[in-house]
Amino acid sequence: MQIKSAEFVMSNSDVAKCPKDRMPEYAFIGRSNVGKSSLINMLMLRKNLAKTSGRPGKTQLINHFLINKNWYLVDLPGYGYARVSKSSKKVFQKFITNYFEKREQMVLAFVLVDCRHEPQPIDLEFMEWMGESEIPFNIIFTKADKLKPKALERNIAAYREKMLETWEEMPLYYITSASDSTGREEVLKYIDELNQNLTGL
Ligand code: GTP
Ligand code: MG
Repeated sequence: MQIKSAEFVMSNSDVAKCPKDRMPEYAFIGRSNVGKSSLINMLMLRKNLAKTSGRPGKTQLINHFLINKNWYLVDLPGYGYARVSKSSKKVFQKFITNYFEKREQMVLAFVLVDCRHEPQPIDLEFMEWMGESEIPFNIIFTKADKLKPKALERNIAAYREKMLETWEEMPLYYITSASDSTGREEVLKYIDELNQNLTGL
């Protein structure tokens, strides 16, 4: 897919205030610092479309980006950020779960996990919640540039094994790097296919 335009549209914490047109959208979710915003920039070939930071907790709102004037990418705050207070964490979690429960035009969520780590309970629980709530998602392994190919392969195999303890099959997944653009074509190709197959949205 060619990216002809990518525009920031709005930020907010209330799903009811998100764009009201019915264009399909794709959301990026995962732990703070996993690389959601960096991945969006990589996919869009833009350095600063989505704000990134070395410190977790950078993205705090639901951010809509309009792509090629006919679909949205949505950058979400991370979950599991230890340094926000418990009560603000709850509010955070609530608007994220609200977003997924209410946002009908959300076609697919990408759950990002850092390829360097072994499966984390918070990610596994989040995916279980997605499954129970019947919210479609794929997995994106991020920061692939940080591992040698063999170690990467081993970690993905371990992840698959862990997933198969609770899932019948491993969800579709991609291996990406925002640093060297690994996985860019695959992710965009899949979004393009889904966009082409959508009718009546
Ligand atoms: P929050 O908004 O805080 O939830 O974080 P986020 O998931 O949006 O992460 P962000 O994109 O801000 O990236 C966090 C840090 O990881 C930054 O220092 C990025 O430069 C770094 N990073 C993200 N993706 C990659 C990658 O593919 N490779 C490497 N080496 N670093 C990455
Ligand atoms: Mg972010």
